[in-house]
Amino acid sequence: MATNITWHEGLSRAERNTYRKQRGMTIWFTGLSASGKSTIATALEQHLLHLGFAAYRLDGDNVRFGLNKDLGFSERDRNENIRRIAEVAKLFADSSTIALTSFISPYRKDRQTARELHATPSPAHPDDEPLPFIEVFVDIPVEEAEKRDPKGLYKKAREGKIPEFTGISAPYEEPENAEIRIETVKTSVEDAVKQIVTYLEERGLLKLES
Ligand code: ADX
Repeated sequence: MATNITWHEGLSRAERNTYRKQRGMTIWFTGLSASGKSTIATALEQHLLHLGFAAYRLDGDNVRFGLNKDLGFSERDRNENIRRIAEVAKLFADSSTIALTSFISPYRKDRQTARELHATPSPAHPDDEPLPFIEVFVDIPVEEAEKRDPKGLYKKAREGKIPEFTGISAPYEEPENAEIRIETVKTSVEDAVKQIVTYLEERGLLKLES
């Protein structure tokens, strides 16, 4: 734990948003492996970039090659995985970027912590507006995810070759109050992107003033 550190004043969030001409926020995808999180997040990132917004996606498998390469899949490691990702997403959002995260994030408590982190202003700017945090539940029955099994991981998990596999031998706690729920069995990627963009537009989140 570091001591003798202080917050620097710097620009306020509102000033940064004005310079960048957009609001930062985090769109937090959660769902089982193979639910479609990364596919939808990638399509949304591309769509937002095409519209001229700065957007950046943090993805499960990729972040685990770098920042979180010291972490596995025990409950404790997943807590730490999500804690770090929430901090990084908040930094992107604070820089007026639209951060997209696609991680299983199976524990309700971790997602709640990520949400609260975004709502907490920095001590240097207590009047900053909270950063919008939009939880997107990519909902798929585990049997369907298992049928898709693009990486062959469910099969390995059933054979006992992957311990603590989410949905098979480790829990997935479904969101109770996600802002958006997408049932990927009946929704195309295109419609999923539309659903999210419509949500953001209706709440004025893609404009500077809401
Ligand atoms: S999380 O639970 O900590 O949020 P994260 O999204 O980073 O997980 O990583 C999930 C990805 O890691 C899966 O899509 C899958 O490719 C891989 N993986 C490897 N082992 C496991 C496991 N035991 N449970 C779930 N996913 C696993």
